[in-house]
Amino acid sequence: MSNTPLWDSLWININLATMTDGSHSYGEITQGAIAVSNGRIAWLGKQDTLPSSPENCAQQIFDGNNQWLSPGLIDCHTHLVFAGNRAKEFSLRLNGASYQDIANAGGGIRSTVAATRAASEQELLDSAGQRLTHLLNEGVTSVEIKSGYGLDTEHELRMLRVARALEQLHPVSIRTTFLGAHALPDAYQDRPQNYIDLVCNEMLPAVAKEGLADAVDAFCETIAFTPAQTKQVFDAAKQAGLPVKLHADQLSDSGGGMLAAEYGALSADHLEYTSEASIEAMQKANVVAVLLPGAFYYLRETQLPPIELLRKHRVPVAIATDTNPGSSPTSSLLLMLNMACTLFRLRPEEAFAGVTVNAAKALGLESDRGSLAVGKRADFALWDVADMAELGYWMGTNKSSGRVKDGVFFG
Ligand code: NIG
Ligand code: FE
Repeated sequence: MSNTPLWDSLWININLATMTDGSHSYGEITQGAIAVSNGRIAWLGKQDTLPSSPENCAQQIFDGNNQWLSPGLIDCHTHLVFAGNRAKEFSLRLNGASYQDIANAGGGIRSTVAATRAASEQELLDSAGQRLTHLLNEGVTSVEIKSGYGLDTEHELRMLRVARALEQLHPVSIRTTFLGAHALPDAYQDRPQNYIDLVCNEMLPAVAKEGLADAVDAFCETIAFTPAQTKQVFDAAKQAGLPVKLHADQLSDSGGGMLAAEYGALSADHLEYTSEASIEAMQKANVVAVLLPGAFYYLRETQLPPIELLRKHRVPVAIATDTNPGSSPTSSLLLMLNMACTLFRLRPEEAFAGVTVNAAKALGLESDRGSLAVGKRADFALWDVADMAELGYWMGTNKSSGRVKDGVFFG
């Protein structure tokens, strides 16, 4: 009988956090094994139920040394591409100014827009590449990246091209989101409607024509765009056949969660001020709640997102970095796990579901990744821990011991 191995590679002596039990548990398989063929999961289970001895099963065997293996982490909300930083505003805030004061005085997002427009494409690729590498070193295999620091057609398109190009330069999957309605650019300060018309009639069609975005987002807030303007953007997205997401109810209850539900959004993000009625609507419309503890922490927000109500109404909760220079200057998804537990009181397994299975959902990718199941993409994170709760327990400590992207091991 010929001895052609069944699979390309096989991990043995490994504990699996399958994340196939929603946010209820890690879906553990201790003393497990997991096999990969053609970049996808071919088999997983208890090691002693392998169909043959490991050497007969696969061409390449990896010994997991009793560590843990989980789905690769997914950062489902970032503004990873930008130039410069806002350390000066950090100082201003520590001298008493608020995030809103700075935004209203022409700083905030608009100052990053000026820096991003002035930067070369190579500079954007390099600085975003550094932040991306930090994420990847923590076990991340998929990242969403928004535009929104260009705010004119040329520079919004350029940001999305840079985001897409990162996928060619690094072993990661990138999803891009068009966020033209992030802030009013200087040239449109007294004519917001003209800017929204530009977003809807020129920018979005150009983005869609070049196939540069997988979704469309907007910032619905008192310091940004009204629900009516957001609706206009969402209608244009619908027309272009693109799903929507929303920066909703971060600083006040503007009805953003409700609006996201009305449009069947993939996710509504931030949500500190969302009402119970909006949460019920989100549950009915299958909208994921993306919580961003880095922004909550950095802006010293005191209004907690409505965790108990999200649990009560069984809205899936994702956790992301929101990496950006103004409200969440971090590139650590593991730190966000810690903050989700300490600040938001999520249980460790709930927080971990937030960066795996529910983060996949927030990007519309749950059939392909986010949990360990036969047929899904072989995107894994390896962890040098005895207990998965250690991932949210250690602060500023990286327990990653490697990644597998589409079946390829990066130690
Ligand atoms: O997600 N809320 C809007 N956008 C970002 C902040 C961007 C910035 O301040 O540069 C956020 O918090
Ligand atoms: Fe954001």
